Amino acid sequence: MEMKYADIDWNQLWQRERRQKSWKRKKKRDWDKRAASFAKRNLGSDFSDLCLRMIQPDPTWSVLDVGCGPGTLAIPLARQVARVTAMDFSEQMLAELNMRTEAAALRNIKAVHASWSDDWQECGVERHDLVLAARSLAVDDLRGALEKMIHWSKKEVIVVDRVGPGPFDPDLFAALDRPFEPGPDFIFTVNILLQMGITPSLDYLEFDLSRQYADRDEAIEGCGWMVDDLNDVERARLGHYVDQRLSENMDGSVTLTRRKPVKWAFIRWKTNE
Ligand SMILES: C[S@@+](CC[C@H](N)C(=O)[O-])C[C@H]1O[C@@H](n2cnc3c(N)ncnc32)[C@H](O)[C@@H]1O
Repeated sequence: MEMKYADIDWNQLWQRERRQKSWKRKKKRDWDKRAASFAKRNLGSDFSDLCLRMIQPDPTWSVLDVGCGPGTLAIPLARQVARVTAMDFSEQMLAELNMRTEAAALRNIKAVHASWSDDWQECGVERHDLVLAARSLAVDDLRGALEKMIHWSKKEVIVVDRVGPGPFDPDLFAALDRPFEPGPDFIFTVNILLQMGITPSLDYLEFDLSRQYADRDEAIEGCGWMVDDLNDVERARLGHYVDQRLSENMDGSVTLTRRKPVKWAFIRWKTNE
């Protein structure tokens, strides 16, 4: 049978490949547990600087940040735009966000405890100029999530989506002798958008090829988040992996260098044309 591009159901393929991925963190309590360490690693990171430079928001805009986490983007964005609605289904992520919102005395961030699948209208969310989902499209119904973003956007949508392994380091999994299947990435988002008649602009963010830590223990912690439930053998292997990639700096700190940088796709399109 002849197969055409238009026959491919990218949403169904996305769902099938998500079931095969080895990384299964999708529950609220998993994100709750990791909120503090995620905040430490990501607030003020190269990722947020690079992203903000790409977003270049209109200062008069309202922004809805879906899956905002501890405010990696919501907090710096609030300094540049009229107002930000920061939405997440993890209470602990929102607690991290609120702590930093107060410390920075920002009055234009509203935290909303809601999930992708909630009725956002019932949660009191209005349409915003820009709707943003950065590293947070962890949904089964990808097409539904994209349609929802478009519906709630007055002017533009931005999605930051995984490319290949994204933040994970396949070499670390190999060193631990653990299988690694990253699951579907940004190309599904792009294909679904194309089938919806949308031609988004596409760019890439690359960073974290090397990262500086105070010492070896911090470096181990800095990449240990990728793997859960390490046994003793794996812990030793992780230490060995880190030692192989670590170099000492003049000031006593250490730098961990990966073989390849972390890469994310930056996808944006206008909704008011
Ligand atoms: C990798 S973090 C990204 C946080 C932030 N956007 C960033 O780029 O640093 C993913 C965030 O999405 C949130 N999240 C995951 N699934 C969600 C869902 N179904 N509804 C709402 N938030 C969700 C998690 O709680 C977490 O804060």
